[in-house]
This record gives sequence, structure tokens and C-alpha cells, in this order.
Amino acid sequence: MVFSKLTAEQSQPTRQRMEKSTAIIGFAWRKLFSLGLCSFGMLSVAGDFSLSNSALAAEKVTKLPAVPVPKDNPLTDAKVSLGKQLYFDGRLSANDQLSCATCHDPAKGYSNGEAFAVGTEGKAGGRNTPTVINTAYQDFQFWDGRAKTLEDQALGPIQNPIEMNMPLEKLIPKLNAIAGYKKQFQEVFGTDVTPDGIAKAIAAYERTVISTDAPYDKFVAGNKEALSESAQRGMKLFFGKANCSACHSGPNFTDNAFHNIGYGDGSDIGRAEVSKLAGDKGSFKTPTLREVARSAPYMHEGGLATLEAVVEHYNKGGTPNEFLDEEVTPLNLTADEMADLVKFMVEGLSSESYPAHTAPVLP
Ligand code: HEC
Ligand code: HEC
Repeated sequence: MVFSKLTAEQSQPTRQRMEKSTAIIGFAWRKLFSLGLCSFGMLSVAGDFSLSNSALAAEKVTKLPAVPVPKDNPLTDAKVSLGKQLYFDGRLSANDQLSCATCHDPAKGYSNGEAFAVGTEGKAGGRNTPTVINTAYQDFQFWDGRAKTLEDQALGPIQNPIEMNMPLEKLIPKLNAIAGYKKQFQEVFGTDVTPDGIAKAIAAYERTVISTDAPYDKFVAGNKEALSESAQRGMKLFFGKANCSACHSGPNFTDNAFHNIGYGDGSDIGRAEVSKLAGDKGSFKTPTLREVARSAPYMHEGGLATLEAVVEHYNKGGTPNEFLDEEVTPLNLTADEMADLVKFMVEGLSSESYPAHTAPVLP
């Protein structure tokens, strides 16, 4: 399957390299998983070998490393507690109703259960709400990766007119007038409420929204009872015939890169908006699959209601288009195999350590 594509690419061997975003590879384990599996046409020859290597490696390297924390925003209990209050506080929005948690709701997989999110003005944005779980491990934020860090991301939705619709010039005096916030900002940052402090506190809280140690991890660590037979078959498909781990790789089940999987009506050009590279048209960030069973509906347009529908999408090889990723091809899975694959995601990647946070007392 990879070879038939190769011929087309050999005629313009550098197109993909020149015009497509590639993963920024930070850790050795990511290298293991992404080598030959992503955007470099020339490396596809090695693709089939890497696949079996990655299947092997995946069964060894599963544990998420310690949460990466930027030097200028160390995690402290007081800061995380402040960030959690801000995350759950509707007063950060124009109508006092909409908090981060309204759209990224812990009870709904840190998403909102809807195809699109609706802001304070009742207007819907054009993209599905991604989960906040394990975003601490991502190299990019947003479906198109336009923010790199959680700090960079946090002030966006507050000010966005179709989200919380709260200009910073209004928000800062509003929060400074709440004695409990003013006091905590002094304690944590040594200043009154500032945009920088808000971003840092919220980001610090998000770094505690982590899911790991799922049945899959337990299974790989040696507990062969941790997964049902069906989920085990699904796991083999995931890392093998179904080729999911070509992109959903490494311990966070994402390669931190962008791909066109042939989904969507084409109106949203995704990563190309940010990178300005034609080859990125219709490419979106590979989402984590940890806790994915909780955050339906799926994909950047939220158009796939169930994991079954997601697997059917991949089984038919997505919708053909000029920029379809070469790793997305018809899979010829049987109905039983598709059910096993879903079982692996539902059973294997849902953890008992799910961060089931509830709203804190607000100042
Ligand atoms: C009205 C609903 C809504 C609200 C309120 C909201 N978000 Fe979002 N959030 C979204 C949507 C939709 C996206 C995806 C937008 C895109 O990719 O262009 C998103 C993206 C994100 C991402 C990137 C996740 C990823 O994997 O790419 C993070 C992190 C995030 N939001 C955190 C927050 C925080 C923190 C707040 C509060 C300050 C907040 N959001 C408020 C809907 C919302
Ligand atoms: C070529 C890379 C690639 C391959 C191969 C791939 N995925 Fe994806 N996956 C992505 C990207 C990119 C998205 C987001 C696409 C979008 O929204 O348009 C995604 C989205 C998803 C989602 C939706 C998650 C959410 O939060 O909305 C699920 C579930 C999923 N993939 C499962 C799978 C399974 C199962 C397989 C194997 C059958 C697979 N993927 C193969 C890259 C890939």
C-alpha cells in the first residue's frame, strides 16, 4: 500500500518535505514512533519495518514521563489552586456564565459533548472542543497548532468574541476587585492580577489534568488480566494492521504532528492557515486517544458521533483528496476487528486515575 504511493511521490520527491509541517521531535521515544511514519515520502520505504518496530517499542515504552513544566512557571500547590479557581469561574466571561469548564467539562472528557462550542453570544465556533487532558504533553495547542504552550493558549478563549468575549482591559479590574483573587495573586506572583499571571495559573492547573496508568499501561507492565481478549486483539490491530500508531504514537497516543485524514467538508484548511504551506491543507493535530471514550463527538468538526463511526471512517481509507496522508488507506477490517479496535480504545485507554475534578470554592 505504501509502495503504490511511492511512485507518485518520486516524481516530485521534495514536495512533501518542502510544503508540509513536520513533527518537532523532542524525545527519543517520539523519534522511535515517528521515524518513517509521517510526512517524508522518502522514508516510506522503511515504513513497514518501522511499523513492526513501533509495535514492539509501544509495548515497552508506554508510561508518560513526568509532566514537562516550563522554567518560568514552576508548579506550586498555591498556583494550581488559583488556576483551578480561574478555570471554573464564569466571571472570566462577559456574561458571568461561561468558564473554561463549561466547554472543557471534566464530566464530559474535558470537552462539551457537542459538535461545536457555543460562546457567550450564543454563536457557535467552527471547531469541536478538544480535551484538556494531557495537553501538558503537547508541542502544539489548537487543532491547527497556532499556540505552542498552555500559557500562550489560555488568554485566547477569554478574549475571543465568540467564546468568553471578555477583553483583558475589563477582566483585569474585574478580578482585582475580588479580594480573594487579589490576595492569591499577591501570594503566588507578588503582583495584583495580571494577564501573565492568569495565563500562568491556568496553565499550571491544566498540567494537573493528566490521565495515565490505564488498563493498557497495566497490561504492558505485565498484568495480562488488565485487558479483555477483545481489547487485546484490538491493541494488536491498533499497532499493526489498522496502522493507527503511525500517528497516534508514543505514550500520549499522538505524534504531535498534523495530518490530513480525509475528514471534513474541506472548508477548514486547518494547519495550512498557520503554516501557509499548501501541503498542510486539511491537516489537523493528531489528538491524544487517552480517555477518548468520554469525549464524543469526534474530529475537528465533531461530525463523528461514536468511536464506531471513527473506525468506519478509517476503514474506508478516509475521503480521498489531494492532501490525504499516505498512512490513511483502506484497511479491510472485518466487523469483528472493528469492534475489537473500538474495545481497545474504550477499555484500554480509559483510566481509573481519570482526573474527575469538581468546581472548587470560588473567592
Ligand atoms: C465556548 C467554548 C470554549 C471555552 C469557554 C473555552 N474553550 Fe478551550 N477550546 C474550545 C475550542 C472550540 C477549541 C479548539 C479551537 C481551535 O482549535 O481552533 C479549544 C481549544 C483549547 C485548548 C487546546 C487543546 C488542544 O488539544 O489543542 C486548550 C488547552 C483550551 N482550549 C483551554 C481552555 C481554557 C484554559 C479556557 C478558559 C480560559 C477555555 N479553553 C475556554 C472551546 C472553548
Ligand atoms: C495519518 C495519521 C493518522 C492515522 C493513521 C490515524 N489517525 Fe486518528 N487522528 C489523526 C488526526 C490528524 C486526527 C484529527 C483529524 C481531524 O479532526 O480532522 C485524528 C482523530 C482521531 C480520533 C478522534 C479524537 C478526537 O478527540 O476527536 C480518533 C478516535 C482516532 N483518530 C482514532 C484512530 C484510529 C482508531 C486509527 C486507526 C484505525 C487512527 N486514528 C489512525 C491522525 C491519524
